[in-house]
Amino acid sequence: MSNRTVTLIPGDGIGPEVAAATVKVIEATAVPIQWETYEAGTEVFNKYGTPVPNEVFQSIVRNRWAIKGPITTPIGAGYASVNVLMRKTLNLYANVRPAKSSPGISTPFKNVDIVVVRENSEDLYSGLEHVVVPGVVESLKIITETASLRIARYAFEFAQRHNRKKVTAVHKANIMKKSDGLFLECCQKVARDFPNFEYSEIIVDNACMQLVTKPHQFDVMVMPNLYGDILSDLCAGLVGGLGLAPSVNVGENVHLYEAVHGSAPDIAGRNLANPIALILSGAMMLVDMGEIEAADRIERAVLSVLERGETLTGDLGGKATTTELTDAIIHEMRVVA
Ligand code: NAI
Repeated sequence: MSNRTVTLIPGDGIGPEVAAATVKVIEATAVPIQWETYEAGTEVFNKYGTPVPNEVFQSIVRNRWAIKGPITTPIGAGYASVNVLMRKTLNLYANVRPAKSSPGISTPFKNVDIVVVRENSEDLYSGLEHVVVPGVVESLKIITETASLRIARYAFEFAQRHNRKKVTAVHKANIMKKSDGLFLECCQKVARDFPNFEYSEIIVDNACMQLVTKPHQFDVMVMPNLYGDILSDLCAGLVGGLGLAPSVNVGENVHLYEAVHGSAPDIAGRNLANPIALILSGAMMLVDMGEIEAADRIERAVLSVLERGETLTGDLGGKATTTELTDAIIHEMRVVA
């Protein structure tokens, strides 16, 4: 086992609570990890004039592994999204969001197992907006061949690495013929290099309808940024909600793990948040570090706690606190070890 240093950004809202839970669970695996902890977000912005000081980026680049809690983005005004800033600055071009059913969590469909691969660097998240004339605003949707080929290739290689069977490209090229048209062309081009995979295409509105009626037809789904943001929340809802949905942002040399959910200001600071999404993101990190057995112990413990159903947080219909759910997972890890 090699010693690793991981940059930890607890974030704000429920971030510090779910980040503390994640550290506790990862430490219970005994994988030797040192944490370099940094603040980011509103308070940091008020102090330093930037929500993410340079030293945070330097730490992530140096360590190459990072776990981040959610960070609130002011609506309509204030600084741009910290998340978008980090993804752009660190060139985190792929956002991988698995959505897998858990036994014990009652949802309309059993055995859903979908991975959304979201292009993370461009599209309508480029932050290029301006007022054309008062009352008219233009927001630019940027789609490039380079980023589209890169994300399509990432999706197929991910499918290959994880023994998946099918990749579906999601688009709206019937309306945005040039931008989504280019995205689709790139997916088709890459698909030709992976003849062993089933490849399909679906228009984004139909994808939403099909996901909530016949989700089992989907395996790996690849799409531009905005559709990925929306469809991955939808997929999280299919398997029990945001409290269970992990993710990783991938760059050339950096992995930044975070939950799909936001800072949940409505329940922040009350020990009510479900920490499982960030804990499972931590397990994804352990897999990528090659610590398969440790990751497996966490995942099995989470599944047992969910299946038992005695220690669930409010979002899952229970009454347990963040601390109680975390401790139940750690207790279960010792049992399944
Ligand atoms: P949200 O995900 O924070 O909350 C949506 C709903 O889900 C709320 O009712 C919340 O209580 C619940 N929820 C979310 N996570 C939960 C958890 N772990 N346990 C139990 N319940 C949970 O989305 P919202 O309200 O749209 O965004 C709040 C803030 O978070 C915004 O400022 C937004 O910009 C930011 N955000 C940050 C993200 C990030 O840092 N990666 C991602 C998404 C949103």
